[in-house]
Amino acid sequence: MISAAKPETSLNKFEKFKAEKDGLAIKEQLEHFAQIGWEAMDKTDLEHRLKWMGVFYRPVTPGKFMLRLRMPSGILTSTQMRVLAEVLQRHGEDGSGDITTRQNIQLRGIRLEDVPDIFQRFQKVGLTSVQSGMDNVRNITGSPVTGIDADELIDTRELVQQVQDMITNSGEGNPEFTNLPRKFNIAIEGGRDNSIHAEINDIAFVPAYKEGQIGFNVVVGGFFSAKRCEAAIPLNAWVTPDDVVDLCRVILEVYRDNGLRANRQKARLMWLIDEWGVEKFRAVVQEQLGRTLQSAAEKDEIDWEKRDHIGVHRQKQSGLNFVGLHIPTGRFYAQDMFDLARVAEVYGNGEIRLTVEQNVIIPHIPDSRLEAFLAEPLLERFSIEPQPLERSLVSCTGAQFCNFALIETKNRAIDLVKELDESLTITQPVRIHWTGCPNSCGQPQVADIGLMGTKVRKDGKTVEGVDLYMGGKVGKDAHLGTCVQKGIACEDLKPVLQQLLIENFGAKLRP
Ligand code: HEM
Ligand code: SF4
Repeated sequence: MISAAKPETSLNKFEKFKAEKDGLAIKEQLEHFAQIGWEAMDKTDLEHRLKWMGVFYRPVTPGKFMLRLRMPSGILTSTQMRVLAEVLQRHGEDGSGDITTRQNIQLRGIRLEDVPDIFQRFQKVGLTSVQSGMDNVRNITGSPVTGIDADELIDTRELVQQVQDMITNSGEGNPEFTNLPRKFNIAIEGGRDNSIHAEINDIAFVPAYKEGQIGFNVVVGGFFSAKRCEAAIPLNAWVTPDDVVDLCRVILEVYRDNGLRANRQKARLMWLIDEWGVEKFRAVVQEQLGRTLQSAAEKDEIDWEKRDHIGVHRQKQSGLNFVGLHIPTGRFYAQDMFDLARVAEVYGNGEIRLTVEQNVIIPHIPDSRLEAFLAEPLLERFSIEPQPLERSLVSCTGAQFCNFALIETKNRAIDLVKELDESLTITQPVRIHWTGCPNSCGQPQVADIGLMGTKVRKDGKTVEGVDLYMGGKVGKDAHLGTCVQKGIACEDLKPVLQQLLIENFGAKLRP
């Protein structure tokens, strides 16, 4: 018998407030909060516990909240998109939406008094935002072309939904998994190109054959933080699709009951794996699972470079196409969302998909409708042929809405790639990721060129700047990039990046 129990050490302040009152308890108080107003709320309820329902107090825009949804595999219907658009529309100029790097949507400008009504509308169309922030399992990612990709090995749509339903009690909220030591990321890949960044998740499933049967190899413990970034490591386990939900449940239970809770800087799953060693971790998981875990398949089936899904692509269903639209840094507004819902219905079957590159895919467009779709004015705004650098641009929220940010990100990122695309010709894809602070939500470590916000001293003044990351590799043989240069002032960045693109990525200055 392996002993998993460990004596509890002193609790950090987050553990204390979670022990005093579970975050999910605020679900029953939302009507009350809506009536008394955010100014009258208990500070911990306001700043922290609301996140258990996906409602984020934003100190940069007090009174205008951010609402983070859950979008399993990044798939939603036109009806759901329209409800999200209506919610934003109500908030006028304050309303905007972001597609996130977890195939998710965040809405902005939300007023607390509207939240109970918004949640009722969500429920009617099967949307939920439950357990999407703080020490909960984040949006579960899957290939954005699952079920329509001719080359995929496993259709993971149902699996991702089942894992989400297990964790959230089908969107109602599940007290079993609302007090993890820290946040937790799960991804399930059924295709060949590792479109989900398996390596940066706490649990990831990647397709692998064992004795001729397709299943998944499991990797665990991947995470980023300001102090430490680790790629996930093999659990040395191969499971069939039928085992995925149970294995996720057991790993979450093991983490919940044994994860380190004294120091939030050392609370992610990898720290527990470090303390135990992966063999003990595997043994404890196996024991709790109550059945023998098969050893990992010798190799997995991730043998493609990562695709970006932009442009027109044939589906595995004959005569149908999916079209990837480029949404610059994932930012869109109510009217854009209404338009996306409309084109998804008129040309496809109403389905809309989101990618971890913050873009949108409209699937199921018949050959006969393609030409008319491509002539839609929406595609002038959300191009299927963006400029080369613009195409792969990713950015976190930054100073416009995020209180942690050291710099403005999204607008600056868009302006700078425009200038670079105008001044350079470049044929190879270069993935540029911006993140506003060392928390790394914009994942500079997976980028060809990662830019992490910092403050820089220049001419006796403190100005916005970045640390430069390079060498991130995604898809097949993925590995994390590292910081290669610190403290470049943003105003000096253009020539630095031009030079870098010329020297390392074959770019040429336009005459
Ligand atoms: C202590 C560490 C971290 C803090 C305090 C933090 C904080 C935040 C905040 C405040 C937001 C919302 C900002 C807004 O849009 O208004 C956010 C969003 C996000 N963060 Fe972080 N973050 C941390 C680490 C990370 C890491 C390591 C990752 C993964 C690489 C990550 C991924 C994301 C993603 C994907 C979003 C968008 C929402 C979603 O889809 O879940 N964050 N983070
Ligand atoms: S990286 Fe920093 S600035 Fe960007 S969203 Fe995360 S916490 Fe905010």
